[in-house]
Amino acid sequence: MSTFKAPKGTYDLLPPDSAKFLAVREAIAAPLRNSGYGYIETPGFENVELFSRGVGESTDIVTKEMYVFETKGGDRLALRPETTAPVLRAVLEANLHKAGNLPVKVWYSGSQYRYERPQKGRYRHFSQVGAEAIGAEDPALDAELIILADQSYRALGLRNFRILLNSLGDQECRPVYRTALQDFLRGLDLDEETLRRAEINPLRVLDDKRPEVQKQLTGAPLLRDYLCDACKAYHEEVRDLITAAGVVFEDDAKLVRGLDYYTRTTFEFVHDGLGSQSAVGGGGRYDGLSEMIGGPSLPSVGWALGVDRTVLALEAEGIELDIPSATSVFAVPLGEEARRILFAKVTELRKNGVAADFSYGGKGLKAAMKAANRSGARYALVLGERDLADGVVQLKDMESGEQTAIGVNEIVAELESRLG
Ligand code: HAM
Repeated sequence: MSTFKAPKGTYDLLPPDSAKFLAVREAIAAPLRNSGYGYIETPGFENVELFSRGVGESTDIVTKEMYVFETKGGDRLALRPETTAPVLRAVLEANLHKAGNLPVKVWYSGSQYRYERPQKGRYRHFSQVGAEAIGAEDPALDAELIILADQSYRALGLRNFRILLNSLGDQECRPVYRTALQDFLRGLDLDEETLRRAEINPLRVLDDKRPEVQKQLTGAPLLRDYLCDACKAYHEEVRDLITAAGVVFEDDAKLVRGLDYYTRTTFEFVHDGLGSQSAVGGGGRYDGLSEMIGGPSLPSVGWALGVDRTVLALEAEGIELDIPSATSVFAVPLGEEARRILFAKVTELRKNGVAADFSYGGKGLKAAMKAANRSGARYALVLGERDLADGVVQLKDMESGEQTAIGVNEIVAELESRLG
C-alpha cells in the first residue's frame, strides 16, 4: 500500500465491480441514443459565475458545496457540481440553437463534484448520466424524458423506485405563491437560519427534513393551488402523456429541487432501498436558465441520473447484471518459442474481433491455468513443447473441460466458428 488514499468522500472504481458501472451508464445512455439525443462533453470545470448565476446564489450547491479555485492566470473556476448549466453554456457558445432544428437534444456522462458531508450514497465525486432537450416548450418533451428514464431503470431490472412529479409554475404564478408562502412561514416558530432562508428562497424551506419543521408545514400553501392556467394545462398534458405511456408516478406537491433554475415540470426518481440518500435521479424544466446566463429565451427540460446510487439500488434489490466475460480466449504458452507463436496468434485473434488475453510473466502451467480461469475465458489455448513439435495447440473448453488438439494454423478460424 502506498501512503496515499483516495480523498475523503471519494472511492475508486475497480475491476471487476467497475463493469457494473459501465453497464449502468450504457443502460441509461442506450434509450437516449435511440431517441435522437447526441453525445456532448464539456470540461470538468467552468467559470464559477456560470454556476452562481445558473444554479443559484442561495443554493447549498453554490454556497457550501462548490470546489472553487483560482488559476495561476487569475481565473475563478469551479469543478462542476452539475452539468445542465455547462451544457447550455456550450450549446449557446456554439450557436447550436441557431441551426434551426430545435430542440437541441444532447446527453452526457461524467464526473460531478460537490463538497458534501460524505455518507453512503453521498460522495464528493460522483457520476451522472444526463440528458437535456434545449429550446422547445412542449409537454411531449417533458414526457419523453420521464419515459426514457423509467425505461432505463426498468431495463436494468429495477422495480422499487417511484417517480415524484410536481410543477413549480412560471414567472407568472410563482411570485404570487412565493409571497403567500413567505407570509405563512413568517408566522412559524423557526430558527434564525431557516427564517433567513424563508426570505431568500422560501420554497427550499418546504424541503427541510427536520420533523419539527415538517410538522409546522402542514397547512402551508401549495404551489399546486396557485398555478396559472397555462402552467396548469401544461402540467395536465405532461401527466396525461406519461400516464398513456404506462408510466406510474406520484404527485408530490412539496417536491422542490436543490437547484434554482427549475420552472414548471419537476420530478425525482427515488428508490426505497437506499435510506436517506434515496434520490437516484432528478430533473425538470428550466425555461429561464438561458436568460439567466446571458442567452436568449430557450425553454428547456432535462434530467440527470446518479450512476453511483443506481448501482446501490441494484445491490439493494439484489439484481445481478448479466455482464458477459470480457475475455473469450486465454493463451498459455509453455516455453520461449511457444510464447512467440501464441503471442502472434493472440494479436491476430484480437484483430479479428475475438477478445483474447495472454499469460504474461513466464508462468508455469498451473499458475497460468489459474489465470485462464480467473479471466472468465470460455477457451484456453495451451502450447507446450510436444505440441510445438507436432504443429498443434491444445484447445481447452473451460466449461466442459474437454480438450482437443488443433493445428496452429487453424486457431483463428476454429475459435471464430466456435464463438459464433
Ligand atoms: P441533482 O438532483 O442535483 O440534479 O442530481 C441528480 C442525481 O445525481 C441525484 O438524483 C443523485 O442520484 C446524484 N447525486 C447528486 N449528488 C450526489 C452525491 N453527492 N453523491 C452521489 N450522487 C449524487 C442535477 O444535477 C441536475 N443538473 C439535473 C438536471 C438535468 N435537471 C435538468 N437537467
